Amino acid sequence: MNRSWITDTVSKVDETVLVKGWVQTRRDHGKLIFIDVRDRSGFAQVVFRANDNPELFEKASTLRSEFVVAITATVQKRGERQINPDLATGTIELLATDMQILNESETPVFEVEKAAETSEELRMQYRYMDLRSERMRNNIGMRHKVIKLIRDELDAQDFWEIETPYLTKGTPEGAREFIVPARLSPGSFYVLPQSPQQFKQLLMIGGTERYFQIARCFRDEDTRGDRQAEFTQMDLEMSFVEQEDVMALNEALLIKIVEKLYPEKRIQQVPFPRIPYAEAMEKYGNDRPDIREDKEDPNLLAFCWVVDFPMFEKTEQGGWTFTHNPFSATRPEFAEDLASKTNLENIIAAQYDIVLNGYEIGGGSIRNHRPAALRSVLEIIGYSPAEIEANFGHVLRAFDFGAPPHGGIAWGLERLVMLLQNEPSIRDVMAFPKTGDSRDLLMGAPSPLSAQALKDAGLTK
Ligand code: AMO
Repeated sequence: MNRSWITDTVSKVDETVLVKGWVQTRRDHGKLIFIDVRDRSGFAQVVFRANDNPELFEKASTLRSEFVVAITATVQKRGERQINPDLATGTIELLATDMQILNESETPVFEVEKAAETSEELRMQYRYMDLRSERMRNNIGMRHKVIKLIRDELDAQDFWEIETPYLTKGTPEGAREFIVPARLSPGSFYVLPQSPQQFKQLLMIGGTERYFQIARCFRDEDTRGDRQAEFTQMDLEMSFVEQEDVMALNEALLIKIVEKLYPEKRIQQVPFPRIPYAEAMEKYGNDRPDIREDKEDPNLLAFCWVVDFPMFEKTEQGGWTFTHNPFSATRPEFAEDLASKTNLENIIAAQYDIVLNGYEIGGGSIRNHRPAALRSVLEIIGYSPAEIEANFGHVLRAFDFGAPPHGGIAWGLERLVMLLQNEPSIRDVMAFPKTGDSRDLLMGAPSPLSAQALKDAGLTK
């Protein structure tokens, strides 16, 4: 017999079904034993009757929480008074006719259905138990659906999904980088990418035109509720576009995600309002304004774009630095200023952030596709010719070979899903997140290496 998802049994009244999953609870009532059996879809109540089958009843009495079972049962309608309207399977129960115990379980460290009341340390240490909870199944399942919708939509719009390297050279985008010793080049290191920024621009030079990637990024920074050392971006780049094109495409994609996957939610304003950076700072004191009309409404999504960022900002040392990344172009009307390195404090970048309910969920820009403009930016932020050559020589050279105008954006995928799922932390929408001090409590990472491993990696003599 084919296995049924447990929640599908609701539509199979009077049929015999085979369900497989975990025992959630067992309740003994004299000659009746009730268990709740759970699979990924949900759970249902199973009844064992001593009078029907004493042997099976005896076996059922040995069941404990989180035992893995295969149960053959008849689907029965519940009597009027037994109906539980709060349960997806509350109109039926499964009358067991056969059962196999596929595996036993130690006494769980916490009850799966009460995982939310458990310390986060324990949830992370026993993540595989936490993942069985309804909350995590729902979060991880919806994350999958968001990604799938993005893939389908972008495919329909002629984007190609392309994987870019993890072992690479650093991109100066502001964060500290993770380094990986290169065994075959002793004393040299790969760097894990902060984002696929340089590669996606090289793809545009390579004629790809429309690229996206559900891309893992690595930033060695302190972890907090909306920040992990390892996280996922929905990264995209397009050739022959202007700021408006990138913004329109992303706005439509976000609206589609909400309409198709979160029909219960309401977007406060469409088209998304646009707030100039200066106004955001003045009115809200930050560049990720929370413009919700009602901050208590869990179904309200207040998207806005923050635009007109200054291209440069003063450093504490009195020099200049970029506000997004060195690849951003100026708005066209400031191209002359950039070329002549004048009026620096007033140059506006062709840059845009997408903000949702007070969180920056994405950011992007139109890039400098002419090498002279990129070189100007690098000179303004104080790189010497030797540093420019060492850090950017490879990109500048690529720009010399016919780089098309291009631009793009990257979303913090976990931040978006966290907000859509009404979760307080991006950890809750990641299968295997790290703690505040970037430890993986389940795997026990990071961990010391043996003397031999360090030697092989060229880190010790
Ligand atoms: P940026 O650095 O702004 O831009 O990153 C884009 C988006 O990624 C999310 N994000 C993070 N999410 C979780 N943990 C982190 N540590 C973290 N850091 C960033 C944020 C942010 O808006 N290459 C450019 C994009 C581009 O210009 O196309 C970039 O990475 O939601």
